[in-house]
Amino acid sequence: MIASQEETPIFSALKDYAKTGVLPFHVPGHKQGRGLPEFVDFVGHNVMSIDLTTVEGLDNICNPISVIKTAEALAAEAWGADHAYFLVNGTTSGIQAMIMSVCAPGDELILPRNAHKSATGGLILSGARPVYIEPDINDYFGIAMGVSVEEVTRTIKQHPKAKAVLIINPTYYGVFSPLADIVRVAHAHGVSVIVDEAHGAHLSFHPDLPESGAQAGADITATSVHKLGGSLTQSSILLVNKGLVDPNRVKAVLNLTQTTSPSYLLLASLDVARKQLATRGHDIVDHTVQLAHWVHREIAEASGITLLGKEVLNNEGSIAIDPIKILVNTRELGISGHEFETYLRSNYNLQAELSDLYNTLFLITIGDNEQTVRSLVDTLKAVGKEQEQYDNIVKYPTYLPELPELVLSPKEAFYSETRITTIENAEGEISAEMVMAYPPGIPLICPGERFTREIIDYISILKKEKLNLQGTEDLTVTTVKVVKNPHQITLSQTLVG
Ligand SMILES: Cc1ncc(COP(=O)(O)O)c(C=O)c1O
Repeated sequence: MIASQEETPIFSALKDYAKTGVLPFHVPGHKQGRGLPEFVDFVGHNVMSIDLTTVEGLDNICNPISVIKTAEALAAEAWGADHAYFLVNGTTSGIQAMIMSVCAPGDELILPRNAHKSATGGLILSGARPVYIEPDINDYFGIAMGVSVEEVTRTIKQHPKAKAVLIINPTYYGVFSPLADIVRVAHAHGVSVIVDEAHGAHLSFHPDLPESGAQAGADITATSVHKLGGSLTQSSILLVNKGLVDPNRVKAVLNLTQTTSPSYLLLASLDVARKQLATRGHDIVDHTVQLAHWVHREIAEASGITLLGKEVLNNEGSIAIDPIKILVNTRELGISGHEFETYLRSNYNLQAELSDLYNTLFLITIGDNEQTVRSLVDTLKAVGKEQEQYDNIVKYPTYLPELPELVLSPKEAFYSETRITTIENAEGEISAEMVMAYPPGIPLICPGERFTREIIDYISILKKEKLNLQGTEDLTVTTVKVVKNPHQITLSQTLVG
């Protein structure tokens, strides 16, 4: 019989173990804090006393049979899936495991171009070939929106052997695609649907929010409970629905890279966050959504800033926006998102979630209350006025670079012989690495793709605006690694036209 959602099997077992006063002759070597007093002084004894490992009574994440198994079953029930697996290396590991579970080397995976860099990692690890869908771009905000059922259907028809479609539910900026309809269409063609739900841990717990991946019938969903569900950073879950995908296969893939020493602090926090969401999730999420609606109403008229709102939806690829995301566009103030973020941090001691060329994103979460959102609103109103000295300059071009030509699969490019060139001279070369601004971590170019002048120019704007560029060995992105002799690569059955 399944335990009750009021229970916390892992957390309770840890507390019991700590209470018994067992004399530990096992790792972790700090032995419940005694070996690291400076750290204990700050974080407290309780935290250290449950930083335990796989010992009798605490189960084993690779082959769970007791408390982890029960906690995972409770999580599956709470999020509405058939199976759940706990992850201690974020949704990144979940996305890579999803791709490796559904694609063998050479198989095709359909995915939107604005997928997170972990999906590119999954392509390299699995050897799968990407078939990109280009989502609509909202020119004013300069962000990618969702993907439509028509686009997915057309792509599946053009690539009938594709093994799976990856959907982001929702995007970092909070945009939802019509997931349930995409699942219906994909399944009708025998194609599985895997869902990046890094930003959707709260969805299953409120009927007014769009459906979660598990609820929409997706085959596998990777959910960052740590981002919006309340657990500790790095703790995520992989949710599996039976049918096109074999849960045992997914577990076998997870065990390839799963640490054998998972942090029980992370596992326990998943347990407690799940209990909270399962038992009180509706009220907590409802309160969060109400606070966010209030913020939207209050700053809708603030001078110089524009909020991402329902007007950008088209009922095709983009059907809803997560109300808890407050995306503020400052182009009419003549400042970039990055400048705005920095200004708020240095003048108001307020830190946003992310900024890009045009926008700054603020998250209202289960950790907010009336006072915190009031401070955000007051600050945004004040800054709008302070910044009026700027003329209404639109500083940047409104485009995002076009999708580059894919010449080699990400894996071929990643494992090919490479050479270094300056980014300025990279036009026409095939990249052997990713370049992206982080956050949001969406690659501008992936391994195997050909550099265009447009991409190089765009990267130089991002550099000028001091956005945090990642993915390259050269952290300054002055040079990039490119494929040395692309025409000599013999593996190239995977050339994509
Ligand atoms: C859209 C998206 N997918 C996946 C991830 C990776 O999630 P995690 O940080 O839990 O590994 C992120 C992280 O920001 C993300 O924004």
